[in-house]
Amino acid sequence: MYNSKQLLKMVEETIAALPLEKEPQGLYAPIRYVLSLGGKRIRPVLMLMAYNLYHEDVRPCLMPAAGLEVFHNFTLLHDDLMDRAEVRRGKTCVHRKWNDNTAILSGDNMLVLAFNFMQQCDREKMPAVMQLFTQTAVEIDEGQQYDIEFETRDDVTEAEYIEMIRLKTSVLLACALQIGATLAGASDADAQALYRYGECLGLAFQLQDDFLDVYGDPAVFGKKIGGDILCDKKTFMLINALLHASDKDKAELQRWIGCKDCNPDDKIKAVTAIYTNIGVDRMAKERMNAYYAEAETYLAKLNVPEERKQMLRDIALELMGRQK
Ligand code: IPE
Ligand code: IPE
Ligand code: MG
Ligand code: MG
Ligand code: MG
Repeated sequence: MYNSKQLLKMVEETIAALPLEKEPQGLYAPIRYVLSLGGKRIRPVLMLMAYNLYHEDVRPCLMPAAGLEVFHNFTLLHDDLMDRAEVRRGKTCVHRKWNDNTAILSGDNMLVLAFNFMQQCDREKMPAVMQLFTQTAVEIDEGQQYDIEFETRDDVTEAEYIEMIRLKTSVLLACALQIGATLAGASDADAQALYRYGECLGLAFQLQDDFLDVYGDPAVFGKKIGGDILCDKKTFMLINALLHASDKDKAELQRWIGCKDCNPDDKIKAVTAIYTNIGVDRMAKERMNAYYAEAETYLAKLNVPEERKQMLRDIALELMGRQK
């Protein structure tokens, strides 16, 4: 069995060897740029880990794994444009370094390339793999649309938020794990359990992302802090702050939300202070821990020797403490 470091190295080598040295440079240079900025590569690593539960030699899974990471990076190009973000992985976002059209078209190209890389897999398993991948891509669009629509709504419930992050984030982690299992010929029951494991992990992962967007260290997190606050993103923290605030705090929060001409730094500072005062940071952490605990119950269901599950347990632990 490989450890996560070895799997990460194989992922990096596969990505570095992708055929992206092509013309026109204006299309491919931004793709090479974003793919060269690193990132945790959590999705391809999860796919290989799931595969490696059942198969020693993970090489047949490398192209689909790279395809999934290219797909993820495509979502980031479009997401940064939609979220008016400036920094990604500590570097200028593609739509800022180049322009909006570049982020759209290089992103589109990555989406199509991702499907090409994904289908470079076992012929017999390919239809099931492409079916899940397609369904996942569609669900991510649905999640992203809800995320944007929620910016201008003031009555988003926690349940709506959870469903939104399930769609925009969790299903991709779940898909990574299930594709790994499917390609390795795992039973349907195991493939399903791994999907559910990924869903819970993904919910915790996005909660953590929303938490770090407020409380992270920008040098480590690689993104500007407070972006969600400036966009009026209806995160777990904002929803719960509104739910648990005193009348005074609630009125102040509502003054900041939707405020067009206020100073961005003042807004981030004021909203963060209200969050901390109410304790929504602690509430977010508790919820994350609950999803990690639920994830564990799906690992328990897997029909593989306990010691082989350790790698997935370790990566969940690592993600729980992640600062980037
Ligand atoms: C960022 O994903 C988008 C979210 C779903 C929060 P990651 O946190 O996996 O970003 P990288 O790939 O490691 O940069
Ligand atoms: C990420 O949500 C979801 C997708 C990219 C599909 P965010 O908008 O929170 O991701 P970051 O924080 O920009 O990485
Ligand atoms: Mg974003
Ligand atoms: Mg977003
Ligand atoms: Mg975020």
